Amino acid sequence: MSGMVFDGCDVTELAERFGTPLYVMSETELRRRMRAVKRAFSERYEDVEVLYAGKAFLPRAMCALVKSEGLGLDVVSSGEIHTAVSVGFPMERAYFHGNNKTAEDLTMAMDVGVGRFVVDNRDELDLLASMAEERKTEVSVLFRLAPGVSGDTHRYIQTAHTDCKFGMPLLGEGLRDCVDTATKAPYVKLLGFHFHVGSQLMENRAYLEALEVLGDLMKTLREENGFETKELNIGGGIGIPYGKGQREVDLDFFLGCIVETAERICSERGMARPRLVIEPGRWIAGPSGITLYRVGTVKEIPGIRTYVSVDGGMADNPRPSLYQAEYRCVLANRLDDPADSVVTVAGRCCESGDILIKDAELPLPERGDVVAVFDTGAYNFSMASGYNRLRRPAVVLVKDGEARCIVERQSFDDLIKGESVPEDLL
Ligand code: LLP
Repeated sequence: MSGMVFDGCDVTELAERFGTPLYVMSETELRRRMRAVKRAFSERYEDVEVLYAGKAFLPRAMCALVKSEGLGLDVVSSGEIHTAVSVGFPMERAYFHGNNKTAEDLTMAMDVGVGRFVVDNRDELDLLASMAEERKTEVSVLFRLAPGVSGDTHRYIQTAHTDCKFGMPLLGEGLRDCVDTATKAPYVKLLGFHFHVGSQLMENRAYLEALEVLGDLMKTLREENGFETKELNIGGGIGIPYGKGQREVDLDFFLGCIVETAERICSERGMARPRLVIEPGRWIAGPSGITLYRVGTVKEIPGIRTYVSVDGGMADNPRPSLYQAEYRCVLANRLDDPADSVVTVAGRCCESGDILIKDAELPLPERGDVVAVFDTGAYNFSMASGYNRLRRPAVVLVKDGEARCIVERQSFDDLIKGESVPEDLL
């Protein structure tokens, strides 16, 4: 019986040694992917930069890897900033996003010298400008825009349509007023704009449409407000194949088209192309991770379906229940057995919707088998919840046959830490 190997490690042994559910991340694949994006973008074109979007997966060890590969970092909260600072990340390479940064967040970001504030709305601009002036700290700013395009993806992860909580609308005079305010504010240095059309995009159509919109806007602002755009951050969003038969994105083509379109649009309007920044998260982290589960109960409903319940579920991977996301899996300890049954892999949470994979083709699973679910490196650990008081799984970083725990499994004591019971209730 042959078992599955992941970055040189026997997966069944990992399940035994570290317990399940278990997130396993391949250091080799993470590094390979960070280098691949750099090769397709920053090593191919002048005046461009790659950031990693921390929201996909950001334990401290991941910050350290991003730092060692020389990428910048997209952060969205003081928690992410704190994590980055804790590994000595060069914070001038961090971009701070979010549609509701608090005064506390902004203070921390200024204290640690975050490189760019991606200002989402008028309210935030006023707050940041006054805080920066009060403390006499200069802040470099991009405005996040809602260019009014819809990416081809689940509607929950479309982020650039007009009726969207993110970004400044292009309707009315609001944006121009913001540009005027920022250019007059003594401690605000407005460098340009940002958009993020959405996530899990297998095609670059929406980016190209957004670039056209931005081209017109940059030209108008130059002619009518005297504002020159120096930097344009076009967000993340590059998709990965999850389900059976889906194809990889061709990174060179995907990114090449974007840069060439930006160049054409600018030259047609008599402008120099601004510095271009991209910030992929999923493309780097997603395929670099797998999740291991142990099979528990197997229940056949005659003529209808067989439910194979595993020891994790929506608490460690909420994506199937949130976005109807598809995943592929194997029985890691029985790779040679024929996949001759179709089963539903169910989580253990108290929700009928806690189904990880519908219609998985597997050898008929038995109690104790190890299920390995692929492509769970992004938005799984980072979106894990404590539902049903399940303890958050450990994360193991593997490389060339060596496994190191980078996040410990929560203990029962961790679960009740910080909780107290008023004395009269005891
Ligand atoms: N930049 C900004 C401003 C973003 O909002 C995001 C993702 C990214 C970059 C990175 O996007 P990526 O390259 O990872 O697609 N929880 C959802 C995904 C939400 C993405 C939110 N923003 C999921 O599990 O599919």
